[in-house]
Amino acid sequence: MFSGILFRSGFNGYRSFLPFDLIQAFGIDISALSKKENLFLEVYICAHLLFLLYFRCLYLMNDYQFSQLLNHFGLSWDGYRKVRKGVKKRIRRHMHQMGCKTMQEYLAALDQDKEAGSHCELLMTVSVSRFFRDRGLWEILESEILPAIILKNKEAVKCWLAGCACGQEVYSLKIVWDRLGGRNKRLPALEIWATDMNPDYLDKARTGVYHRSSLREAPQALRDIYFESHAKGQFFAVRDTVKKGIFWQVHNLLSDPPATDFQLVFLRNSLLTYYQDELKAPAFEKVVESLDQDGFLIIGAGEKLPSGSRGLLPFAGHPCIFQKEA
Ligand SMILES: C[S@@+](CC[C@H](N)C(=O)[O-])C[C@H]1O[C@@H](n2cnc3c(N)ncnc32)[C@H](O)[C@@H]1O
Repeated sequence: MFSGILFRSGFNGYRSFLPFDLIQAFGIDISALSKKENLFLEVYICAHLLFLLYFRCLYLMNDYQFSQLLNHFGLSWDGYRKVRKGVKKRIRRHMHQMGCKTMQEYLAALDQDKEAGSHCELLMTVSVSRFFRDRGLWEILESEILPAIILKNKEAVKCWLAGCACGQEVYSLKIVWDRLGGRNKRLPALEIWATDMNPDYLDKARTGVYHRSSLREAPQALRDIYFESHAKGQFFAVRDTVKKGIFWQVHNLLSDPPATDFQLVFLRNSLLTYYQDELKAPAFEKVVESLDQDGFLIIGAGEKLPSGSRGLLPFAGHPCIFQKEA
């Protein structure tokens, strides 16, 4: 029989889910099993295979199905490649809640039920971020970019952090600004627009409490001044002084910018990473329009401007910093 042949020929690919060791521990010689026992083992194997298959269909999603979902929303495979495992898990759970067994059923349901469609879009968002992500950039920001902005804008400076997730980038900017304030007699008023399409992330941002892993790029001296440590150093809470003067707003980057004439826009690891060109290019154009003359645009490490984008010049040879043409 099938399983008997497999065992006798030394096949042990199913070892992981057969009580193989248990059988041997009882001193049973598999090669000496009777026809009946062999049959029992065969049924046992088949039941396991069927269970695995059922489990796979129920809880896992293959890349083809996932790319169908990405295409539905105009999202990019390259952007999601590394993070797809966690996203798939959330989507699979949503499919299950909606009673959808196949991706076709799910996509049709999302089209019919706008609320479910919006919920799914939020499930697709990825909140990975950290304080002072790409440390070198923050050093240039403190030593060159913000001083240049302050020199030109004596009264007020307006910044937009688009796709700010849970606020790590926003508070990093506030900290750098505060440090500049310590060195300057008078800084302009700072207006920060911190936006994200996911309201849950903004709620976390307002709370301002982070796991220590979010601070791994933050220098110790800054941790001591601007954070309060909790739970024996497992969590850090941003101090209230840093939280002031931030305007948190739910906003979708595919719509018009929340305001205009920004002197500084952070657009890192959101629009340029997660969207396909057809959605990315027009939305990016609007972001550039929202910049003031000579305003600065910061993109993520490893991101590129959409092809054909106009009106920006690279700043000091840095691949992630651009300045709007006068
Ligand atoms: C990976 S996080 C990046 C956070 C931060 N900018 C950084 O670089 O550390 C991406 C964020 O972009 C947001 N996002 C994605 N698409 C968006 C859209 N169309 N409009 C607004 N926010 C969006 C997600 O909700 C998520 O919070």
